[in-house]
Amino acid sequence: MLNWEEFDKDDDTTTAKPVQAAGQQAPAQTERLDSEGDALAHDARAVDATDSAAVARAKAALNELDIQEGLDDLEGSSARVHVGDKQMINARADLNQLVPFKYDWAWQKYLDGCANHWMPQEVNMNADIATWKSADGLTEDERRIVKRNLGFFSTADSLVANNLVLAVYRLITNPECRQYILRQAFEEAIHTHAYQYCIESLGMDEGEIFNMYHEIPSVAKKASWGLKYTRSISDPEFKTGTPETDRQFLKNLIAYYCVLEGIFFYCGFTQILSMGRRNKMTGTAEQFQYILRDESMHLNFGIDMINQIKIENPHLWDAQMKDEATQMILQGTQLEIEYARDTMPRGVLGMNAAMMEDYLKFIANRRLTQIGLKEEYPGATNPFPWMSEIMDLKKEKNFFETRVIEYQTGGALSWD
Ligand SMILES: [Fe+2]
Ligand SMILES: [Fe+2]
Repeated sequence: MLNWEEFDKDDDTTTAKPVQAAGQQAPAQTERLDSEGDALAHDARAVDATDSAAVARAKAALNELDIQEGLDDLEGSSARVHVGDKQMINARADLNQLVPFKYDWAWQKYLDGCANHWMPQEVNMNADIATWKSADGLTEDERRIVKRNLGFFSTADSLVANNLVLAVYRLITNPECRQYILRQAFEEAIHTHAYQYCIESLGMDEGEIFNMYHEIPSVAKKASWGLKYTRSISDPEFKTGTPETDRQFLKNLIAYYCVLEGIFFYCGFTQILSMGRRNKMTGTAEQFQYILRDESMHLNFGIDMINQIKIENPHLWDAQMKDEATQMILQGTQLEIEYARDTMPRGVLGMNAAMMEDYLKFIANRRLTQIGLKEEYPGATNPFPWMSEIMDLKKEKNFFETRVIEYQTGGALSWD
């Protein structure tokens, strides 16, 4: 642990005693200190005899620095930020000033995400390794589920992360949302790490698993559906600011948050967690459980962003956009139903593709209503109520609280 005391020794001779409490300095005194500080900073630039040629050159180069030019390059205006100037997209307010907050929900999710920190190596994989390597540890259908899901997820989280840092981060013009996006980006890196860790621990063929999104049609279709919505906006020249480009960006957010993270992950999560509930591949299931908790927060953050953009730009949310958004969610649901059939050609783990289809329709109705659209699968019910329990917010809070304590003390994971 850092100890600041040793850095404080001998400081008494160089530190002036404060004459007044912080924040209470008289204006004249502040002005005097400002001008003294400025003069001392200026003097530091002078080249003296002890300076090497390289140091002298560095000082001289700074004399050429045009401060205004640098500031002009920064995004946003140079005026102090007023909360009313902040906007989700196309904002003119300075993006380098985090406060004053406009979207408290974004900051809160950033704090919650940090409190939820975990690392894949903390999960014990020994039982999984024994099960995977034993001839009768898993049935053929169960092995198929493990391989297909590691195949899909090992690249899907990279697709999400790339879209996030190469496109979404740049186009969302709000610093508290960007703060959460940075946190989310790191979580996506942890997820890809977790899949890699499982694949390596189980001694799988890495090439086969990581390249599955090119080789297995039900995996490839989901990946290419997502990539279709990244193509235009990941162009560094792409800019929002017209109704057409704003719409394109909104569609990308719906594709990534509502469909990729909100539908495409759900068949796999349910299958692997069902395996864990039956005491099989419990390490892998534990990794997926942590990931699911992160993902449900990503999804909720994305839905908040989409709804906020709709509020601030009501002209974008017209009949055509609503129809396109509905279509995207229905297409995503269809692809996930196909994935369920491909991964479960027969009943396995107390579930089958028909039950998963019901579940996915139930999830799709949720995604539609969460962004203000009407349900498209009337009467769909949830055959896996335990999934909702795992994502239950109250439990999540307990999870975060215990997790934070464990992480800060560096102790091992405990699931009690
Ligand atoms: Fe993820
Ligand atoms: Fe995510």
